[in-house]
Amino acid sequence: MRKPVIAGNWKLYKTSSEALELITSLKPMVENNKSVEIVVAPVFTVIGSVKHAVTGSPINLAAQDCFWEEEGAFTGEVSPKMLIDAGCSHVIIGHSERRQYFGETDTTVNRKIKAALGAGLTVLFCIGETLAERDGDQTLDVLKTQLCGGLSGLSADHLASIVIAYEPVWAIGTGKTATDEQAQDAHSFIRGVVGGLYGPTTADAMRILYGGSVKPDNIKGLMAQPDIDGALVGGASLKADSFAAIANYGG
Ligand code: 13P
Repeated sequence: MRKPVIAGNWKLYKTSSEALELITSLKPMVENNKSVEIVVAPVFTVIGSVKHAVTGSPINLAAQDCFWEEEGAFTGEVSPKMLIDAGCSHVIIGHSERRQYFGETDTTVNRKIKAALGAGLTVLFCIGETLAERDGDQTLDVLKTQLCGGLSGLSADHLASIVIAYEPVWAIGTGKTATDEQAQDAHSFIRGVVGGLYGPTTADAMRILYGGSVKPDNIKGLMAQPDIDGALVGGASLKADSFAAIANYGG
């Protein structure tokens, strides 16, 4: 059985007082939810205070990125070891916004994944096609390239600490969700690629999240698909009631 993951990516939102207000409201709304792995990913500067606020609750903390070196002369970077020190158990790597605006490539994603796993973090590894790629019938090629690049050199054991997030770029922040069927098709393809690389046992155990305009009113349909194991939520994770409604989709 794959335990569903509902993760909130707060992106570049929330000062410390706003983050504390959000997490303090969210905590009681999800405290009895044992069936889902709940994760929130605040900006680096508030991870410490949010960690303090979630102590004793089932909410896990993620960072939105990390560097691949442990320490050194790398101004502006944060290492996996430092994320653990700050209270993170998870890290998002390869988000399309990092690929689009910050020069992230499959090679840098791969280096970051290896470093994060080496430090003991669970990785939320993001892949997804742009609208032009979908319109040009390249979706499956793009997903395969991103998967093979990101996972290069990793063993089946490593994959136990990876969660894949399929986030079609055209559905992010646009209000345009992939249909349940489009998402299921992509997830089933991704599971097949993982199976081809690592075998059926690893593929069966791999959790694959959907991301892109997930809201309380579309989560149930998505979660009813056989290969969708959770969601990576942007906009709707910035409000306690909508994120809690998504995390508590099972009732
Ligand atoms: P939205 O839910 O705002 O579309 O964002 C999705 C996302 O990018 C999560 O990482």
